[in-house]
Amino acid sequence: MQVTTRPATEEDLGPATRIVQDAYNDVRVRHGLPASIALGPPLFQAFSLTEPTSSLWVAEAEGALRGFAFSWMRQRFWFLAQLFVRPGEQSQGIGQGLMARTLHHARENGAENLALITMAYNTTSTALYIRNGLYPREPLLRLVAPARVVAERLGAAGLEVAPIEPWPASRDWLSGIDEEVLGFHRGSHHAFLLGGIAARAFRIEQAGRPVGYAYVSPTGHIGPLAVAPGTDTAEALKAVLRGALEIGSEQISMIVAGRADGTLAAAFALGFRIDEPFVLLSSRPFGTWSCYQPSNPGFM
Ligand SMILES: CC(C)(COP(=O)(O)OP(=O)(O)OC[C@H]1O[C@@H](n2cnc3c(N)ncnc32)[C@H](O)[C@@H]1OP(=O)(O)O)[C@@H](O)C(=O)NCCC(=O)NCCS
Repeated sequence: MQVTTRPATEEDLGPATRIVQDAYNDVRVRHGLPASIALGPPLFQAFSLTEPTSSLWVAEAEGALRGFAFSWMRQRFWFLAQLFVRPGEQSQGIGQGLMARTLHHARENGAENLALITMAYNTTSTALYIRNGLYPREPLLRLVAPARVVAERLGAAGLEVAPIEPWPASRDWLSGIDEEVLGFHRGSHHAFLLGGIAARAFRIEQAGRPVGYAYVSPTGHIGPLAVAPGTDTAEALKAVLRGALEIGSEQISMIVAGRADGTLAAAFALGFRIDEPFVLLSSRPFGTWSCYQPSNPGFM
């Protein structure tokens, strides 16, 4: 079978999303988890197609897509959002071929750090990334709680939340927090979320001053959430949870780094349980992960 690799087009995004869903569920089932990943329309992928620093590739054979890779860049920071090969066609070099294309694009664009998030139980992908110079850095846990339980246990919060002003009025303070927490800013991520994707966008405030931000999806998923170092992360989380409960979803979920002691302790006291373990890999350490909750493995 002759496999060719080419840049993805908008028409590829639907079939590529099906490969992502099938391959993700296949890994889950092989690790004793339910095949419960349902993906929505590829909105962030379509948004990223228009950005020259993003890189979206498909592997094709006999007229059908076999694999998909998608990476984005912000300043000198490169992030692999998705790399998936169709089940039944894996371990034949397709994944490494796609990885090589996206890494070439990263080098051409001056990337100084490379990162991604994968399932912590996924030995195949972890091996592939280590062979490409990205090493496991941070354990990440996806946590889930029934909204009813959180509502019962949530007391008063020591910080406040207010809606984030529409983009670009909020650009300066959001960029300042990203610089402090992640080491780079990413205006177009915020523009995407504030353009109607997030159900709620919160500015976390202390004495009227912004000390963080958090987005909440229509399904009650919190993230990305960032607070300036030195902020009480447990109080920030409680303030965001108050706002998140207003959405009325049945459950609340979020991804928290292992080193975020205060956030994890508060989350477990509020009824959260571990749903899925992930791991952050990168070519160089970066970020203050006790102050950051990524949205999902693709958006970061
Ligand atoms: C992970 C994935 C993209 C790799 O693509 P692939 O086409 O299967 O992999 P390749 O044949 O190109 O192999 C690349 C490297 O992956 C690792 N690998 C591949 N198959 C493996 C297996 N069965 N067991 C362990 N490691 C394996 C090896 O390190 C390999 O390099 P090497 O053979 O030189 O040692 C693909 O298997 C996949 O889609 N898996 C399910 C979804 C997933 O895990 N996606 C990543 C989410 S971030």
